[in-house]
Order: sequence, then structure tokens, then C-alpha cells
Amino acid sequence: MISNDFNFQIIHLNSVHSTNIYALELIQKENVREGLVVWSDFQEKGKGQLQNSWHSEAYKNLTFSLVINSKWRVDAGFNLSKIIACSIAKSLDTLTAEKVEIKWPNDILINKKKVGGILIENSIQGNMISSSIVGIGLNVNQEVFPAFAREATSLKLENGTSFVPEEVLHVLLNTIKREYFNFVSQPSGVEQFFLDRLYGLGENLKFKDFSGEFTGIILGVLPNGHLLLNKNGKAKSYENKSIAFLE
Ligand code: BTN
Repeated sequence: MISNDFNFQIIHLNSVHSTNIYALELIQKENVREGLVVWSDFQEKGKGQLQNSWHSEAYKNLTFSLVINSKWRVDAGFNLSKIIACSIAKSLDTLTAEKVEIKWPNDILINKKKVGGILIENSIQGNMISSSIVGIGLNVNQEVFPAFAREATSLKLENGTSFVPEEVLHVLLNTIKREYFNFVSQPSGVEQFFLDRLYGLGENLKFKDFSGEFTGIILGVLPNGHLLLNKNGKAKSYENKSIAFLE
């Protein structure tokens, strides 16, 4: 758990393969303090969810990893993901009046377009998570994006103004610290915010699972992080990778 006298220690790089990998290499070499942040202006091999890559134009955006030694049971690991997604959404709320949502499991949307993503890589001992590398990619000032399955955007494109990435980084880190403690002392506030901002909650949306395309309704997210859907009148849960959003 983040200790109360916790201070962020930031390593700022111009270029790196991936901040998550850099943080992992440091952890394997030396005794890394919780709160270590590896921030790079560019990643040559940024990693995304599901073996995808994360593309981000140099100097325009934020790509960083934060080391947190929270001790969750493996089956409660989604808590951290939830805290981070809510922290990013709350941070963006202070920077833009546009609609910020959290798309299960780890995407941050503005006006339904993807502005950020989270990749948490955990070290596990037995049935406990012993430490987590929380990788965050946030599109800040980039204006042109390749075509992705879900349209990408940036804070600048949606808000119409540029931001200083370092200032956004500090807003994010301070919000993560605050929301982490909020969650530990009283989870219900973060849980409620997560549901309030969960993209598609209670709406008919098109999905694709192993049996094909269908229209379902998101009912919520289970404590283990699985998505709960109403599919043809029956509740059905999905783990990450087993379902795709078609809208
Ligand atoms: C996703 O939406 O697929 C998750 C993207 C996570 C990207 C960040 S950028 C900083 C950190 N380092 C990486 O290599 N990936 C994460």
C-alpha cells in the first residue's frame, strides 16, 4: 500500500523502449521505492493491452509508469485498475468540461474516443499481488492519429487548447495518491464514481464474443474485474480478451 509519507520520485527520460519494461528492469536490479515514476517523452516499443503496441508521438503526450506495492489478493486486483481509471477521469475533469468516461477494462474516453489507456503489470506471490507497475498513456497534445478500431483523440483535440504534459503528470499523480487513500479508507466513493463513468452502463451496445455479434446491456463489473452483461435476458460475465466492443 502507498505509505502516508509517500513521495513520488520521478525519473524523466527522453526515450526508452517502454516505461513499464524500464521500471521492471529497475525492480529486478535494485530495491525500488514505491512511488517511483518512470516518465519518458518517447517510447520506441510502448506496450498496450492484449499484446498490442501503444503509439504516442514524441514530446506531445504522457507515457509513464508508477510503481505501487499494494498487497491485493489476485482476485481483487481489479481494484487498482479501478482506482487508476477513476483518478485519470477525475484529473481530466479538472482540465476539460468534455465528457470523460471509463471503458471497461482500462480505456479512458473523451466524447467516446480513446484518449488514454492503462496497462498494469503485477508481480504475484502465492495468491497475493506483491507489487504493480501501473503504466499510463495519455494523449495530451497529439493532433493526428492512425486509424484504430476505436477512434483516438487527445485532450487538445477535444478541449481546443494545448496542455503542458508535465503539469498534467502532476495532476494525475496527486489525484492517484488521493483516490488511492480514498479507496482504502472508504471504497464506496470510488466504486460509485467508477459506475457513474462506466461507458455504456445500462445501455444497449453491440458486442462480439466467441459465438458472434450481439446486442447486450452492461450491468456492471464484478470484483474480479469481469464485465457483467445482460445477453439475451441472461446475466453473463466476460473476462478481458473474451469480448470485443463493436461500438
Ligand atoms: C492500452 O490501452 O492498451 C494500454 C496502454 C498503456 C500504455 C502505457 S504508456 C506507458 C506505459 N508503458 C508502456 O509500454 N505501456 C504503458
